[in-house]
Amino acid sequence: MTYAEIRSRWQADPEGWWMEQAQAVDWMQPPSRALFDDRAPLYEWFADGQLNACWNAVDRHVEAGHGNRIAIIHDSPVTGIVTRLTFAELQDRVARLAGALRDRSVTKGDRVVIYMPMVPEALEAMLACARLGAIHSVVFGGFAAPELAARIDDAQPKAILTASCGIEPGRLVQYKPLLDGALALARHKPDFCVILQRDAGHAELTAGRDIDWQTFCVDAAPADCVPVAGNHPAYILYTSGTTGQPKGVVRHTAGHVVALQWTMRNIYGVAPGEVFWAASDVGWVVGHSYICYGPLLNGNTTVVFEGKPVGTPDAGTFWRVIQDHKVAAFFTAPTALRAIKREDPQGLLAQDYDLSSLRALYLAGERADPDTVNWAQNTLKVPVIDHWWQTETGWAIAANPLGIELLPVKVGSPSVPMPGYDVQVLDEEGRPVPPGTLGAIAIRLPLPPGTLPTLWNADDRFRKSYLSRFPGYYETGDAGWLDEDGYVHVMARTDDVINVAGHRLSTGAMEEVIADHPDVGECAVIGVADTLKGQVPVGFVCLNKGCSRPHEEITRECVEMVRNRIGPVAAFRLVVVLDRLPKTRSGKILRATMTRIADGEQFRPPATIDDPAILDEVAAALRELGYPLRATG
Ligand code: COA
Ligand code: AMP
Repeated sequence: MTYAEIRSRWQADPEGWWMEQAQAVDWMQPPSRALFDDRAPLYEWFADGQLNACWNAVDRHVEAGHGNRIAIIHDSPVTGIVTRLTFAELQDRVARLAGALRDRSVTKGDRVVIYMPMVPEALEAMLACARLGAIHSVVFGGFAAPELAARIDDAQPKAILTASCGIEPGRLVQYKPLLDGALALARHKPDFCVILQRDAGHAELTAGRDIDWQTFCVDAAPADCVPVAGNHPAYILYTSGTTGQPKGVVRHTAGHVVALQWTMRNIYGVAPGEVFWAASDVGWVVGHSYICYGPLLNGNTTVVFEGKPVGTPDAGTFWRVIQDHKVAAFFTAPTALRAIKREDPQGLLAQDYDLSSLRALYLAGERADPDTVNWAQNTLKVPVIDHWWQTETGWAIAANPLGIELLPVKVGSPSVPMPGYDVQVLDEEGRPVPPGTLGAIAIRLPLPPGTLPTLWNADDRFRKSYLSRFPGYYETGDAGWLDEDGYVHVMARTDDVINVAGHRLSTGAMEEVIADHPDVGECAVIGVADTLKGQVPVGFVCLNKGCSRPHEEITRECVEMVRNRIGPVAAFRLVVVLDRLPKTRSGKILRATMTRIADGEQFRPPATIDDPAILDEVAAALRELGYPLRATG
């Protein structure tokens, strides 16, 4: 069947089509129907079915006689460790970890925070939660203690699972002090913490609170998979919004399992037994969907890579991993390729490796710039498939469905909407615009299975953030256009979210941190173009009257504050001091105009601007920093 045929079958009978896809998973009790719309515009899928995500990802493969297949390959280039776990070994480890959690009274519906580096135990922890029906919330290791604390307070976990350290090139990230710092800040206290001691660095355990991971699991009786309802939350994943309070994206179990299973065959085109590698981190949505659940649900081997595209040890490391583990489909962010391209512009290192196993490269997380796509295409000589999705959706809104058929690639576009997504581009009034016209990208409700049904304990925030601007639609927060062939072109965010090295961050959250500096009267943070990371944040601060401290001291302190409160991952390094910020007469800071100046784009100051001369001061400060980029070459 072609993509067009599949899409029209979905359009003709969306619910029937999804019920058909649901047959690819094991149910303890099949759902009576697909869509549950009694709380519209909040929708649920397969709500009255019973299933277990861990069963589908692990046990059913063992049951089917594939216990000896490799489930996880852990490749850690800094420590030189490569380990492999079969599905049978994974089942045993997950069942015992789940048993140990159950023995400490973790049960269906309890939350468990997982704060871990890229080790197989991170996946085991997620799957052990799924086995019990506990709801995991994984927090990315590059976040600082206050971010972890905010997530602990919102999710209120019974337990926290962590490791002694993570391995970044050139340094160990000690997780224990971060955990201690977070728990000192958090109002909610978990009953206990489990700490995986790694050879690279052990942590001092806190008596009465911390338990060593090995000791925890060693005598535990294996736990069976607990049936959960289709609308039982599988996990909460926090993501940046416009404020410092992250949004807890909820994922319901059945939609998650059904949709991911569909994508493995139809988007990624991989068969059970093949090796799938997403070079991301378990702390991001890509890690949830395509390091952990997706590949395992489909019976694939997943690669857990604890390295970077460059420097571990060199820019050939991705190609080495593809060769060594015979990767069939590879997924990364454009920023990672830009890092490699900067060190190996001709792509010569790829020639040192046998990449014959690789059938396609998938890109997501930020706009895939044509330069990077063309470089990757020339270097790897396989289709390079840009696809567009968000933490909220959990899987691709638009993609080139290689598993069905490879549609003509249009460099700069993530191709076409996947079945389940009715993508529309709307004007300010919410009316669909003609092809080729820029507007807000929205998705007609209901969103498909596997996407967010709501935010954790925050239905109202969910409605306000996503459903209120365009009634009947989900607002993606991205701007773009559809072309005559129905291809989607995603251009920019319409809110304060920026994408730094494929990591989603909130400039509003950074402003909240800087505004706390005792000498800062007001501030603005914008995202500016960066040749490596896509975007980086720049802070503009105005000091309190009478402050005579050296500007360098204050800007250094602002940088430190963002690093300590949000985390190194914010890559916040650029701060300038201005006398005033450009504003409208009503006092609104003109962030969009500032961004246009930084990007060297044409702009007309809004008619309501208070004092246009301030824009010259902004431009001068940005020139000092080397912006716009093309002015410095
Ligand atoms: N734990 C702790 N710290 C982390 C971390 C983690 N899991 N991940 C990143 N950090 C830290 C880094 O050590 C760095 O700290 P530093 O300021 O002390 O150097 C900081 O956060 C910024 O890290 P990063 O964004 O990785 O930038 P970089 O300059 O070290 O590397 C790239 C640049 C492009 C190589 C890197 O960003 C990269 O590999 N990006 C791909 C991202 C990706 O796959 N995203 C997933 C979306 S699909
Ligand atoms: P995240 O929730 O971290 O996955 O970030 C989602 C955001 O990243 C989207 O809303 C887009 O702004 C951006 N994004 C992700 N993939 C793409 C893509 N293929 N093209 C353009 N932007 C993308």
